[in-house]
Amino acid sequence: MTQTAQGPISPAEIEAAVGRPLPPFPEASLRAFVARHFDRAPFYMDALRNHPPPVYLLETQVLAAGARRFMAAFQGALPDTAFYYAMKSNNHPEVAGHLLKQGFGLDVSGGPELAAALDLGALDIIFSGPGKTDAELDMAVRHAEKVVVLMDSFGELGRLEKAAASRGAVVRTGVRLTTNPDGLWRKFGIPPDRIEDFFQAARSCPHVRLQGLQFHTSWNLSPEAQLRFIEMLGGVLRTLPEGFLREFAFIDIGGGYWPEQGEWLHPGGTPEGMIRKALGQTVAAAAPRYRIPSMPIEGFSEALVPSIERHLRSVVPCRICFEPGRWLVNDAMHIIVSVVDKKASDLVITDAGTNAVGWERYETDYFPVLNLTRPAMIEHPCHILGALCTPHDVWGYAYWGEAIEPGDILLIPTQGAYTYSLRQEFIKPLPAVVVVV
Ligand SMILES: Cc1ncc(COP(=O)(O)O)c(C=O)c1O
Repeated sequence: MTQTAQGPISPAEIEAAVGRPLPPFPEASLRAFVARHFDRAPFYMDALRNHPPPVYLLETQVLAAGARRFMAAFQGALPDTAFYYAMKSNNHPEVAGHLLKQGFGLDVSGGPELAAALDLGALDIIFSGPGKTDAELDMAVRHAEKVVVLMDSFGELGRLEKAAASRGAVVRTGVRLTTNPDGLWRKFGIPPDRIEDFFQAARSCPHVRLQGLQFHTSWNLSPEAQLRFIEMLGGVLRTLPEGFLREFAFIDIGGGYWPEQGEWLHPGGTPEGMIRKALGQTVAAAAPRYRIPSMPIEGFSEALVPSIERHLRSVVPCRICFEPGRWLVNDAMHIIVSVVDKKASDLVITDAGTNAVGWERYETDYFPVLNLTRPAMIEHPCHILGALCTPHDVWGYAYWGEAIEPGDILLIPTQGAYTYSLRQEFIKPLPAVVVVV
């Protein structure tokens, strides 16, 4: 749980943060990752034949294989499931389009995403997120046969009732539950101890059919946060009147599954690195690197399913819904740039900037930069920087390859999640999207 700042930070607190050891990156698994992508260099180069860098390269087969694996992990283990792709994690229409073909519905969080989902012909859409406007609610009402609105507050219930009544429609809905009442996560949903009040309030809204619950925890490197919430929710459900429980058609347990590769960090992403940056020091080292482990999706399933059965489905034997985003798209898209300028043996500038990912990801997160033009299983320290007029435009502090020269093509693999959707029009043109099977 995050802590709210209270008074000055003591030297002991700083020491504890700095001294907290992070797991070092296992060299063998990093080398295997790099080798796997170098082995595919001819495939990547071929994809560039008609599309010079910079590009986002979307591999639809990787996407489809991940979708099948995610579904299989839970479908076999639970009697009634539904899967919704969280469009926010990568909003390229081909991504959602391919996941629809795999049997996913779509999870949208705003009007533009809802419009895109409808344009794609999606028939099963959930609309979640705080602060839905009247116009967005009206769009959901107009497509009520395709959209389930996951309401975020008592106020939204009232506004949705009004919107649905004005069109003579009845809307299927659920309500989102707050998973953490502290800090900024309190903006999402209603407190679980108000579920009964919410069902009571919905009874006086004839155009709103309340049928389920939703919660979402983020950044799950393990299922711990989900398990804690499921157990607590089970306790609340047991106190609800039978009449309400009978109305439940689904419980949506959200997304937030971290990809199996784990979280990869530079020194700049560690507590020590962040403290050093706050002190104005430069933290731009190529090593050491850290990997915080995650687990295979089957491991999530093994832990979550018994808990869902015991705490939720034993009380309400309903459908369980999933809203993954990051896990599905992370591995399916890569970024490919080329070197424009070599300013020193350890400093190159590329043709695209990190406006392509929309945030300063690589100042904290480590991803190998692979020189596809001169592949070699050796990593050289080198500042690989973008072309924007800001020093916060970093792809990496090293590259894998024999050498690096102007014109070389560099691959940054597995960049599909929360990069493309966050891209910004800023100074340099954005990469084109190349879709390969
Ligand atoms: C309500 C909700 N569901 C699903 C997701 C998708 O999360 P992830 O991409 O981490 O799986 C998010 C992400 O913010 C979310 O807010």
